[in-house]
Amino acid sequence: MAAVETETRDKVEMAPNNEFDALIIGAGFSGLYQLHKLRDELGLSVKVLEAGDGIGGTWYWNRYPGARCDSESHSYCYTFSKALLSEWKWTERYPEHPEIRRYLNFVADKLDLKRDIRLGTRVAAAHYDDTSNRWRVTTEAGEELSAKYLIAAVGCLSTANVPKIPGLDQFKGQWYHTGLWPHDGVEFKGKRVGLVGTGSTGIQATPVIAETARHLTVFQRTANYSVPAHNAPLTPAFQSYVTEKFDDIRRTMHGTTNGHAFVIEDRSVFDVSAEQRQALYEAAWQKGGLQFRATFRDLLADKQANDTAAEFIKAKIRSIVKDKATAEMLADIDHPYAAKRPPIDSFYFEAFNRDNVALVDVRADPIEAITASGIVTRSGKEYPLDIIVFATGFDAMTGPLLRIDIRGRDGLALKDVWAAGPRNYLGLQVSGFPNLFTVTGPGSPSVLCNMPVAIEQHVEWIADCIAHMRAKGLERIEAKPEAMDRWVGEVNAAANATLLPQAHHSWYLGANIPGKPRMFMPYAGGMAHYRRICNDVAAKGYEGFALSG
Ligand SMILES: Cc1cc2nc3c(=O)[nH]c(=O)nc-3n(C[C@H](O)[C@H](O)[C@H](O)COP(=O)(O)OP(=O)(O)OC[C@H]3O[C@@H](n4cnc5c(N)ncnc54)[C@H](O)[C@@H]3O)c2cc1C
Ligand SMILES: NC(=O)c1ccc[n+]([C@@H]2O[C@H](COP(=O)([O-])OP(=O)(O)OC[C@H]3O[C@@H](n4cnc5c(N)ncnc54)[C@H](OP(=O)(O)O)[C@@H]3O)[C@@H](O)[C@H]2O)c1
Repeated sequence: MAAVETETRDKVEMAPNNEFDALIIGAGFSGLYQLHKLRDELGLSVKVLEAGDGIGGTWYWNRYPGARCDSESHSYCYTFSKALLSEWKWTERYPEHPEIRRYLNFVADKLDLKRDIRLGTRVAAAHYDDTSNRWRVTTEAGEELSAKYLIAAVGCLSTANVPKIPGLDQFKGQWYHTGLWPHDGVEFKGKRVGLVGTGSTGIQATPVIAETARHLTVFQRTANYSVPAHNAPLTPAFQSYVTEKFDDIRRTMHGTTNGHAFVIEDRSVFDVSAEQRQALYEAAWQKGGLQFRATFRDLLADKQANDTAAEFIKAKIRSIVKDKATAEMLADIDHPYAAKRPPIDSFYFEAFNRDNVALVDVRADPIEAITASGIVTRSGKEYPLDIIVFATGFDAMTGPLLRIDIRGRDGLALKDVWAAGPRNYLGLQVSGFPNLFTVTGPGSPSVLCNMPVAIEQHVEWIADCIAHMRAKGLERIEAKPEAMDRWVGEVNAAANATLLPQAHHSWYLGANIPGKPRMFMPYAGGMAHYRRICNDVAAKGYEGFALSG
């Protein structure tokens, strides 16, 4: 039996059509653009392996009610191609998931990408073979492929976190995770729904589910800030402005800390009087969106400054939510504003004024178990439910990479190198793993940035690096251990210069996953600064990397 298995495996292994110059894992924003760069500009043979049955990554998987972007649409797109920009028009300030999926399919069709994407193919392992200088990639179905370059475009938020609550398997109703949402949708009409989680996802889903559910119970562990999105259709005038002024808009996106199409105001909180500050916050609240964070430049650097924004939002919550006890629970926020990824919403706090919506504080009375008929908290209180929605987030940043058995030189396992938290150089490469690149890996600005900006920068840097290697006849690139150590220090220092690590339960720190090492994962030094560092490294002949023939 064993001999037969080996023979079959060998046959697959040797298939010549499974050998490529580059393999890319993931067909979201990152993988699609990386395919275009390597195949169409560098002329490499490339294959993308994608676990989903469609392209789009985040937007393929996250189809929960209310799922939409919180980057403004005119900045939530590729900017590398004028042709793509001129042919696509967004309809809303924050489009819903089907529109973003349509956009990514439009891009893939326009660039003829789909013929080189293998859907329904989850990568289980990737092992580097030093002798041949190739990565041997095994899929969950047992197929083997190989390539000189391996690019992990697996996303930062693609591994759903379903909490291990005892009894979930006994639940007689239906349960769903928002990041693995059924494509046919879920019928909430007449149902008693429990929603666990009040991050960006729970905050988007709550008001929409409340519209149809018989009753919605929101289980809140950590109360959260949110600012109105003020979503609206885009006017033809705005659409024309975007087309005409795109170069300026792109310059702004590339010039700022967080890659959005707005600038952070060059003033500090205490530069203005209390009355002026209130007026500025009020104007930002009325405008809505993530730009609220940009009202002052020191909101994420100075706790006292941050407190003024925090108090403003808490006062808004109290003014919106009519039931005093519920308002207090929602406003009882224990971390600085924007130290966790700040959500924006469409009538989230207002939803708690509906008769069919209730809030439960599961920090005070934690979820203990799930029974056949609902959720039970530590006090013994039972909440009967027909549907449970887990808006409980992701094993972010490292989860998608560590789910793959990645082994570098001499069988070195990535999970061992990262046992105490992720370590790499520039968020791009790990020492001991030659020719493996991570797009928006931990240690890069990634999730602290409007992600298409971070993605384009990484994809272009990787393509330029491979082009450089080919031009110079170089075969291997690998981060030097000392460069990696230095960079880990810089990532820590950048985080510690902000209030971000003060949200002790944040997924930025890995704190949402029991047992995950606590380490601030994204680079908080700002996207524009990071871009300069990467450019500089390349200009100095890829300083900090070992290149060999
Ligand atoms: C609900 C939601 C809303 C968001 N909104 C915004 C926003 O407004 N602005 C913003 O900047 N960012 C937002 N993000 C972040 C978002 O993830 C990025 O903007 C962007 O879509 C990431 O693209 P990506 O290609 O890097 O990763 P993804 O889109 O996550 O794609 C990665 C792909 O890799 C595949 N994959 C992973 N592991 C494997 C494997 N082992 N084998 C095969 N395939 C694999 C996955 O199936 C997935 O399709 C949001 C995230 C979520 C969850
Ligand atoms: N464009 C958008 O508007 C948008 C929408 C959705 C997501 N996103 C992106 O995706 C990221 C993840 O967002 P997310 O909301 O999916 O995840 P999240 O921010 O990690 O929020 C998960 C929520 O679930 C709670 N939770 C987790 N496990 C729990 C448990 N066992 N019991 C009770 N509560 C539990 C968390 O509480 P604690 O806080 O106490 O851990 C938190 O409230 C965002 O930060 C953002 O980057 C963006």
